[in-house]
Amino acid sequence: MQKRLTLLGSTGSIGDSTLDVVARHPQRFSVYALTAHRNGDKLVEQCLRFAPEVAVVGDAATAAQVEKKLREAGCRTIVTYGPQALVDVSKSDGCDTVVAAIVGAAGLAPTLAAARAGKRILLANKEALVMSGDIFMDAVHDHGAVLLPVDSEHNAIFQCLPLDAAQHGGVSKIVLTASGGPFRTREPATLVDVTPEEACKHPNWSMGRKISVDSATMMNKGLEVIEAHYLFDLPGERIEVLIHPQSTIHSMVSYADGSVLAQLGNPDMRTPIAHALAFPDRVDSGVAQLDLTQVATLTFEKPDYQRFPCLALAMKALAEGGVASATLNAANEVAVEAFLNRRIGFMAIAQTVDAVLNALGNTSASSLDVVLEADAAARRAAHTLIDSLPVPA
Ligand SMILES: NC(=O)c1ccc[n+]([C@@H]2O[C@H](COP(=O)([O-])OP(=O)(O)OC[C@H]3O[C@@H](n4cnc5c(N)ncnc54)[C@H](OP(=O)(O)O)[C@@H]3O)[C@@H](O)[C@H]2O)c1
Repeated sequence: MQKRLTLLGSTGSIGDSTLDVVARHPQRFSVYALTAHRNGDKLVEQCLRFAPEVAVVGDAATAAQVEKKLREAGCRTIVTYGPQALVDVSKSDGCDTVVAAIVGAAGLAPTLAAARAGKRILLANKEALVMSGDIFMDAVHDHGAVLLPVDSEHNAIFQCLPLDAAQHGGVSKIVLTASGGPFRTREPATLVDVTPEEACKHPNWSMGRKISVDSATMMNKGLEVIEAHYLFDLPGERIEVLIHPQSTIHSMVSYADGSVLAQLGNPDMRTPIAHALAFPDRVDSGVAQLDLTQVATLTFEKPDYQRFPCLALAMKALAEGGVASATLNAANEVAVEAFLNRRIGFMAIAQTVDAVLNALGNTSASSLDVVLEADAAARRAAHTLIDSLPVPA
């Protein structure tokens, strides 16, 4: 049966890759809703190509522009805007599958709505699990939703685990590989001078700016450890991070009998997206077959927590539990944005997150309101701290 998609964050990097795969299989997939935040022009192009029933943007002015252009082009897509509109297209009967690819905390509410509506969720937005892992997983289980990981590492682990969770007892640990980002070998003393352009230039992957900076600080890997903890129900001690600069092995599962299963492929998000879209079938993703003679060498090293303090902070937040990872995530979002706007230096990202975690107490993540309060408090604290810092030269 054809799957009807709501694609949250269609104008982003994951959105682009998803639509690329969707366009290859018009018999299998059709688009119910596309959503953007401010990039109305790109959304218009996507609507003209994929003819969704609904398009969502962030505000009324962008919605009016998008609607005008669509009508001029003879396209009848309904245009709506705002956070509630994102929730509406995620739980609508018009779709059975929701691709969660909004960046940041803004993705939580619509992804949770999809879980509560029992949808098949293709999860790229890791913030939903980082902020409210237990609440989100409870919603998935209580409402019969199906969660398929799109993040390449989690998708790799999903592919290497037995489908029947009852057989997970033989798993001794999972190993998340990490490229180490653009600064794996850069002289540590020069990291203070890193520019947004340098931080966004990932050696292997092409991604949005926020996740690119997170890859450079390795906060991304820390968020992925938290995501893996909830997705695969494993304690932090059984989730290992291994630097693998070639990004050929996307992650591994170690079993009690000494076996290690790994998933390999070229670093292109269309592979995990196609896997999750078509699961349990396999379809063409447009990605070239892996040629191991071209890769030739696969290397591995342990992460350097001195060089990448954000990774250590995320591990600590996971160990502490409660709202600590929501606080970490919110402080990091504010700090990364300030870095991208050249308001703070690269090393001040970790310093801001650390200071906010220390300044705010931890409490049990007992409800979504508590989590959202922690998120808001962390944002306020991060802004106050950043305002007190000098602008980098
Ligand atoms: N890129 C990757 O390879 C990759 C891999 C694994 C996981 N992920 C995860 O996937 C998510 C998306 O990453 P990305 O790289 O695709 O990001 P991106 O390129 O920055 O795209 C983000 C998308 O979210 C929309 N958006 C931004 N702020 C929003 C808001 N406040 N409300 C509603 N929509 C908003 C953007 O709309 P506009 O274009 O209009 O701003 C865009 O469509 C992130 O959580 C990331 O961690 C990404």
